Amino acid sequence: MRMVDLIAKKRDHVELTNEEIEWMIQSYTNKTIPDYQMSAFLMAVVFNGMTPTERLALTQAMVRSGEVVDLSAIEGIKVDKHSTGGVGDKTSLILGPLVASMGVPVAKMSGRGLGHTGGTLDKLESISGMTIELDMERFMTQVNDIKLAIIGQTGNLAPADKYLYALRDVTATVESIPLIASSIMSKKIAAGADAIVLDVKFGAGAFMKTLEDAKQLAQAMVEIGRDAGRETVAFLTDMNQPLGFAIGNALEVKEAIETLQGHGPKDLEELVLQLASQMVVLAKKAPSVELAYTQLKEKLHNGEALNKFKEFVRAQGGDVAQIENPDQLPKAKSIIPVIAKKSGYVERIDALAIGLAAMKLGAGRATKEDTIDMGVGVVLNKKVSESVCEGDVLAYIHTNGSDNEEAMMYIQQAYDISKDSVCPPTLIYEVIA
Ligand code: URA
Repeated sequence: MRMVDLIAKKRDHVELTNEEIEWMIQSYTNKTIPDYQMSAFLMAVVFNGMTPTERLALTQAMVRSGEVVDLSAIEGIKVDKHSTGGVGDKTSLILGPLVASMGVPVAKMSGRGLGHTGGTLDKLESISGMTIELDMERFMTQVNDIKLAIIGQTGNLAPADKYLYALRDVTATVESIPLIASSIMSKKIAAGADAIVLDVKFGAGAFMKTLEDAKQLAQAMVEIGRDAGRETVAFLTDMNQPLGFAIGNALEVKEAIETLQGHGPKDLEELVLQLASQMVVLAKKAPSVELAYTQLKEKLHNGEALNKFKEFVRAQGGDVAQIENPDQLPKAKSIIPVIAKKSGYVERIDALAIGLAAMKLGAGRATKEDTIDMGVGVVLNKKVSESVCEGDVLAYIHTNGSDNEEAMMYIQQAYDISKDSVCPPTLIYEVIA
């Protein structure tokens, strides 16, 4: 086979065969296809798309380019959850223990934050002593024992995606639904779960800016999952404001603990309960989403989910005293209010700008090598549809002293204040199964 012929086929809207896609991905992983040819192919995909058969073949070829985690030593149906990335999204911290408290095994491999979105591993590491580096044997034993373990991605999962993503990043070819769908699903399938729940976010702080694009991406991923033998359900959720109030590592852990105590922000609690209900049904631990929801809500409010979180923190070496008394988590030296300059109603809070404000304060990384400050971040005081008077506090920055002015400017810019009243936003637009 010659790469030039595959590029020409894609340019001319001719469907590629499974063998051609397999050969292309293997050859690119082995570095026998140069970046310039792969770049031309990717750009042809951006313009001409991929058929469902091509999308599936690409996903499976990327899965086969590396290791596939074998979770068969863990009893029960393993359900994973993936979010396409949001600001203030601490759902995994709550979902893990909540779903595990229903007896569903949660064997989660998470990532670190980069840019304006945070990562579950960084958040967990704000708890003293917490280790996210367990070997596979200990990881599986812990899931069998207490139903929950969260670790950093191990091994060599979907290396073809890693190489392709780095190339897409510098050739303006990230924005393609089949490429994004196969990239995300290849990693999820390689991570070994039996079923997958996806939270596809749209809005200013998200990858997908519109509901329509988010829906197409969600449909593509659900189809790939189904055709690859992994039952997949996708939520379309709003990211036209951050989730909950807190953005920043320890601040988000604190908010997760409050949610596990049954008094978290309403939007966060609702999203967690809805995602968890689907996970419990996929794991066959409840006959319906409605029944799962009722049982999960009880576990969130009767302390069982919180106890599971403590058990998990203890198992991974973390200091449980910090969970019992979150004031012991890392804290910033100063808390400074950001004041509203006009009166009205909050129409939108640009989640991207809030994420950038948190990053300026030191809560996130601009490059992979940056270190992060666990205690800093932003806590919103006003959310969409609330009324605001000039002089009210819009948000607080938790800071150790660097770049405060820039962070406060981002927050001011993030808030759109309208003269007219604003309806409370819809959080979950659709569930695609
Ligand atoms: N996240 C991924 O993992 N891949 C993409 O292509 C886009 C977002």
